[in-house]
Amino acid sequence: EAIEKGGFEHFMLKEIFEQPRSIRDCMRGRLDSTQGRLVLGGLSEYITKLVNAERILIVACGTSWHAGLVAEYFFEEFCRIPVEVEYASEFRYRNPVIREGDVVIAISQSGETADTLAAIELAKSKGAIIFGVCNVVGSSIARATHAGAYTHAGPEIGVASTKAFTAQLTVLSMIALSVAQRKGTITEQKLHELLVEMETIPAKVEKALLLNDEIKKISALFKDSRNFIYLGRGYNFPVALEGALKLKEISYIHAEGYPAAEMKHGPIALIDEEMPVVFIATRDSSYEKVVSNIQEVKARKGRVISVVTEGDKLIPAMSEFVVEVPAVHDALMPLVSVIPLQLLSYHIAVMRGCNVDQPRNLAKSVTVE
Ligand code: G6P
Repeated sequence: EAIEKGGFEHFMLKEIFEQPRSIRDCMRGRLDSTQGRLVLGGLSEYITKLVNAERILIVACGTSWHAGLVAEYFFEEFCRIPVEVEYASEFRYRNPVIREGDVVIAISQSGETADTLAAIELAKSKGAIIFGVCNVVGSSIARATHAGAYTHAGPEIGVASTKAFTAQLTVLSMIALSVAQRKGTITEQKLHELLVEMETIPAKVEKALLLNDEIKKISALFKDSRNFIYLGRGYNFPVALEGALKLKEISYIHAEGYPAAEMKHGPIALIDEEMPVVFIATRDSSYEKVVSNIQEVKARKGRVISVVTEGDKLIPAMSEFVVEVPAVHDALMPLVSVIPLQLLSYHIAVMRGCNVDQPRNLAKSVTVE
């Protein structure tokens, strides 16, 4: 087992550090910015179904559902196709409306999640075309779908999903850009810009991983907190949800992720001088709005920890702790901004003496409903 962990103390940490490579593997042979080309072999036969889709329904659970939320923003922005992201467990039991022209995308690391599989079978029985985004080759979900793209992240052992999540984001971004290119909803120039940007992601993730020691220090200061709030907007909203999920999964600290502006409709009541509030506040189109949300938290004496874009001056001046990640296009930021949150939850859990690779009550793949 020590050998399998490759010198890391836990599988989770190893998998967090594998991300530059797993993201690169996921793009290998599929993306070529110099040619403006995206080749997703497993989709080719069915890609026109996605191009002509009137609506995309994404079904998933857990972390995969968060990847689906990022994809919603991505598909709507670049493909102009309406997207709905569904918890598979809800979708399967509520007699959902599935029309001709709807296309379903199922996301699953294991490819074995019972609720996601049942949601696929239901959608199929209503005539929908189903695409799969799975990590495990030959898994039940991969076999149940009409077409799909594997994430090629390699085996993920830690129960809390890390490298599978970023690989899902990578695949979904490639699918969306490929659809946008065919649909003509993106200019060649914008497409080129994004493809070039995608190729830089492994190096930027590498850079974000250099935050490890800094995050360890912050973790030591917050390890005894009883609650955490994670806030983000736009593409960073699902990242806030994912950060909170990671923390509660492995450290057993109660954590809530919220869209930053929605905070005033509830969570703001929880804020006092003991509440850590993690802002995913990178420089994007909602930056100014997030600045005012930070002010709202500070006014109530919350302890602000911010993830910002390198070189930002304003938010660091307002925060108690700051970690800087490299600049990336808004739509690809989740690939980088999630890294410090994975590390934060990891270190806090280790410091609390928790079993990070096999947290209590959780399973790597949930094959029962
Ligand atoms: C379990 C795992 C999570 C995972 C979720 C969905 O709860 O502990 O890490 O996100 O299932 O799993 P899937 O394999 O379908 O992505």
